[in-house]
Amino acid sequence: MGTLEDTVIYLDNAATTYPKNGDCLRQALEQYLTLGASPGRGGYDRAMDSEEAVTAVRTRIARFFGAGQDARVCFANNATDALNTLIQGLVSRGSHVVSSRLEHNSILRPLHHLHKQGLITFDLVPFDAQGFITPAAVAAAIKPETCLVILTHASNVLGTVQPIRQIGEICRAHSVPLVLDVAQSAGVVPIDMQEWDVQGIAFTGHKSLLGPTGIGGLVVTPEIDPLPSRFGGTGIDSLNLFQPLIYPYRLEAGTVNLLGIIALGESLAYIESRYEAAFLREVALLQQLRDGLRPCRRIRILALDELQDHLPILTCTVDGMASTDVGTILDGDFDIAVRTGLHCAPLVHADLGTFDNGAIRFSLGPFTTEAEIAQTVRAMSIIAA
Ligand SMILES: Cc1ncc(COP(=O)(O)O)c(C=O)c1O
Repeated sequence: MGTLEDTVIYLDNAATTYPKNGDCLRQALEQYLTLGASPGRGGYDRAMDSEEAVTAVRTRIARFFGAGQDARVCFANNATDALNTLIQGLVSRGSHVVSSRLEHNSILRPLHHLHKQGLITFDLVPFDAQGFITPAAVAAAIKPETCLVILTHASNVLGTVQPIRQIGEICRAHSVPLVLDVAQSAGVVPIDMQEWDVQGIAFTGHKSLLGPTGIGGLVVTPEIDPLPSRFGGTGIDSLNLFQPLIYPYRLEAGTVNLLGIIALGESLAYIESRYEAAFLREVALLQQLRDGLRPCRRIRILALDELQDHLPILTCTVDGMASTDVGTILDGDFDIAVRTGLHCAPLVHADLGTFDNGAIRFSLGPFTTEAEIAQTVRAMSIIAA
């Protein structure tokens, strides 16, 4: 593993997981140094080997997300990049999109941008007091001109994992594709696109997939065919002055991030067999944190009455204190790293009444320990005393 100074308690895993998996990264670097050549850009052995390595990771990703044999996997820089590709590729003039008030700016901003351009309209369904979107609310928002339902699988503020199977049934009944932002959930809870009737996902490598930054992507089933929204070299069909419409080139222009892809493949191999057990451990730590903070009168924990369907994320406020001040004290006096403010999801905070002061988010990871949680509870009790 990568090293973090011994004294620092890192509870910002929802931003990016830490420590990084040093073994996977070193193995990936070794392979990268050996392969070297640009995948899909030459008929010589090295280039073919690189292409094979990339294809193997595509296959692993499709399997990891239960996408089926005929799924298409395209790489992107991160979830934001993949979400932009999916949204722009799936809407057209006059389209209506359904999303939610739980979303991260990586969905809200593309939707607002396209709306401002006069291209689309959209509705954002609310979430309930415990941070869940109801399938009935999604059903009520779908209109005849709805071309896409796009939702976060799990809230990055509240950690709530949404009832996607039931929402998938609703979308199927209305013949509207369902696309998920799995930036937070991938690598923490199992995801099964086929079983849940999900036609597209956008993922990022550097959070709970335990890979490096700069690599992410999308997976789509043959039921949807996003149009390309960026154009350029693909290494095939070079005479064609238009973007080839076959996958993955349709949604991948330019040289792919070979080192990042190989590293992601290594980290998937690392977590595949162990992440479900890791999740149970993290939920136990979440309970320790929640139960430890509950007696503090000035601490208000947001939407965590039940631990079921929750990622290991706890967000709270301290009465009378700005969240950034709490974060600064946690960092400066206790060496605890957390994320404060609005977490790039302003509507969640608007609806929870935490817009002005923001909130303090503790996001646990596979390497968080009981002792670290105990120290965090002590630090918060002192701050809130
Ligand atoms: C729910 C959610 N979606 C999307 C993203 C964007 O991920 P990235 O910055 O890797 O593109 C994040 C990052 O925090 C997130 O929490």
